[in-house]
This record gives sequence, structure tokens and C-alpha cells, in this order.
Amino acid sequence: MSFITIKKISVKEVPQIITLLNTTLSFGLANYNNVSQYIQSTYAYCALDNNKVVGIITSKELMDPASEFLQHENVLQKLNECQINHAIIVKQLAVAQYYRGQGIGTNLLDQLLKQHAGRNFVTVGWITPSGWNAKSIFHKNSFQPLIYVKEFWLKDSLLKKYDCPYCKKFGPGCSCSAVICIKD
Ligand SMILES: CC(C)(COP(=O)(O)OP(=O)(O)OC[C@H]1O[C@@H](n2cnc3c(N)ncnc32)[C@H](O)[C@@H]1OP(=O)(O)O)[C@@H](O)C(=O)NCCC(=O)NCCS
Repeated sequence: MSFITIKKISVKEVPQIITLLNTTLSFGLANYNNVSQYIQSTYAYCALDNNKVVGIITSKELMDPASEFLQHENVLQKLNECQINHAIIVKQLAVAQYYRGQGIGTNLLDQLLKQHAGRNFVTVGWITPSGWNAKSIFHKNSFQPLIYVKEFWLKDSLLKKYDCPYCKKFGPGCSCSAVICIKD
């Protein structure tokens, strides 16, 4: 394994992060504006092999669950039942293909959890046709499944016109499901 460092994001890493996100997760939605908000933030970390960005985790304060889970009344109800109204939501976790399976995803999540120790966390686990890639990472960090939502991104992806590399052969938009998990 090469020597990988985990650090806060600086301005020079932004272009590489945009590329990594757009090739693994957000398919055209990552841009300078939404990535640069994380510069020097404790809500995002990147993994570097020398100066090359090979992994990224982003999160934010879940201030308004109703706007985060717009069109997902069932998710809101579950969060309410668990009295989760203030938490940190893990938004994106991605590792470059060649670097997977070396513990980088695990280390990125560890860094975020350590930084915000004692807080409640929420994540939306992306279930691709071959399963939830990050399942083991979140499970071993005590994230518990709260609710499974079929076609979680379908309406949003049709509206914002983004595709999914895993399921686009089944039609426009993203028909993947999600598992909403909490750590409290
Ligand atoms: C999910 C992802 C971030 C994992 O990163 P990684 O650096 O390879 O993860 P790690 O090396 O820390 O692996 C941690 C565990 O996940 C497992 N894992 C990693 N990739 C996996 C995959 N594609 N499918 C199933 N399990 C996987 C590993 O076997 C390991 O399990 P263990 O701890 O029980 O031994 C990476 O595969 C990725 O970027 N995938 C595409 C984007 C994605 O799905 N992101 C998650 C959205 S919720």
C-alpha cells in the first residue's frame, strides 16, 4: 500500500475532487461552488497519495431534515420517531477505483467521526445493483439501518437530469435504492 494521508481540503485539491465525485458518485453535479464550501472545513476530508486525491468524504449539519428529505415523508417520520432532529449527515464517500480495498474509505469516515465525537450521524447508503458498497464501513462504525427506500433518487435525478453509472441501462435517472442509517 502506498502512503496515504488524510487531511482537510485545500483549494488546490478542488479540481481533482470534482473529477473524483463526478466519476464515482454525483455524475456532473459536483462543481467548484459546491466543493469549495469544504475548503479547510471539518466537515470534509480528502485522502492523498502524494498530491493526488484518491478519496473524499463530505458531510454537513442536518439543520432541516424536511428539506434534506424532501419527497421522503417516510424517512422524516422515522427520524422523528428516533428524535433525530439535529445530526451530521454524511453526504459523499468515494475512493478512486485503483485505491479501493486498502482501508482508505474506513480511514476517511474514522477521521470525520473522531472530529465530531459525541454527535449523532445520519447517512444515505447508496444501494447499487450489486449492493451497498460502503455497508461494512458504516456497520463497523455502529451505523444502524433505519429505513430502506426504493428508488430514492428517481424523482430528483429526473428533475435535475443526472444519471447513474450503475442503473442507467434501466432507463433515465437513477433507480437505485437507499438505506438511511443513523448512529446515535
Ligand atoms: C465504498 C467505497 C468508498 C469503499 O472505499 P474503500 O477504501 O475501498 O473501503 P475500505 O478499503 O475501507 O473497505 C472497508 C470495507 O468495505 C468493503 N468494501 C469495499 N468496497 C466494497 C465494494 N465495492 N463492495 C462491497 N464491499 C466493499 C471492504 O471489503 C471492507 O470490508 P471489511 O472492513 O469487512 O474488511 C468505495 O468502494 C467507493 O468509492 N465506491 C463507489 C462509491 C460508493 O459506492 N460510495 C458509497 C456511497 S454510500
